[in-house]
Amino acid sequence: MNILIIGGAGYIGAHVAREFLDAGHKVTVYDNLSSGLAQNIFDDEDFVEGDTMDFIGLIDTMRRGFDAIVHLAAFKSAGESMLRPEKYAVNNINSTVHILNAAAESGIKYIIFSSSAAVYGNPQYIPIDEKHPVNPANFYGFTKLEVERLLGWYDKLKGLRYAALRYFNAAGYDLNLRVTGLEQNPANLLPIIMETACGTRKEVLVFGCDYDTPDGSGVRDYIHVTDLARGHVAALERLIKTGTSFTLNLGGENGISVLEMIDAAKRISGRDIPYRITDRRPGDAAKLIASSEKAGELLDWKAQYSDMETLISSSWKAYLNNAEKDAKPALS
Ligand code: WQD
Repeated sequence: MNILIIGGAGYIGAHVAREFLDAGHKVTVYDNLSSGLAQNIFDDEDFVEGDTMDFIGLIDTMRRGFDAIVHLAAFKSAGESMLRPEKYAVNNINSTVHILNAAAESGIKYIIFSSSAAVYGNPQYIPIDEKHPVNPANFYGFTKLEVERLLGWYDKLKGLRYAALRYFNAAGYDLNLRVTGLEQNPANLLPIIMETACGTRKEVLVFGCDYDTPDGSGVRDYIHVTDLARGHVAALERLIKTGTSFTLNLGGENGISVLEMIDAAKRISGRDIPYRITDRRPGDAAKLIASSEKAGELLDWKAQYSDMETLISSSWKAYLNNAEKDAKPALS
């Protein structure tokens, strides 16, 4: 299949592109490189530098002829979304309207959308399955839920079939170090721990240690980005096979606390990782753990690399690889 991956130069997008390529698909990446990196564009894919707010750019690209779109271009910091909702409304919602309209006008029939566990808000029960009520606790989650609602109407009115994949916490790096561009200015926990281990960040701020969890720090369900990416490939295969839209959780079905992640990172990296307990971050839940049972049933998918050791060791290898590259004197 001929796939257009919008946001395919980003941390998750590059891993998704890699897995579609490995599965034999033809991939074109559309990315404005505002947070994605040119070094994440693979030699065996095409690239269009473009913005999701540029409707003409989108439709000119889509008219080249694609079987499906994977849309991962969005701002994703739950914390920042509570401080700058206007930025998230435009980039996460307005741009998706352009994408859906361009897709409908170009006759594209399938879209895989990067949604989020953040649509659930504070859990009423754990593990969270897809029947759980949706009630976002932060503006980022609101934007993802709004797009899911748009997808339902575009399915009904335009015949655009979708798979909305509700990511839990994406982490880790390609086990073969094929994605080399590290997230810039990360807001998520594991890259922040990695930067602290590398010495490029002074300390990890632990946002609250008075939650109702075993060690008081926040617990999340971390899914290895390769597991996440393979879930996208399987989701598209099912969407094309059945022609029926669906919404799924993709999680590692683990529950790792902030302090556990820090301790394990110290052990695996052999580095000191200073941290300081601070106030809770607005919009944070104490504990978010997925049920990915439906993904298992519909996609025959199960996380393989989402254990804490692999999440951290694959990340540490990527950060070390990057540090060694930076350290190597440029050949004169
Ligand atoms: C994880 C835990 C923080 C940073 C993420 C993404 C969002 C969505 C859902 C995909 C929490 C704590 C973090 C730090 C900390 N994923 N933390 N200090 O908020 O669970 O949401 O998953 O759509 O894109 O943001 O992830 O990594 O920000 O936080 O203590 O410097 O780590 O309180 O308990 P979050 P996160």
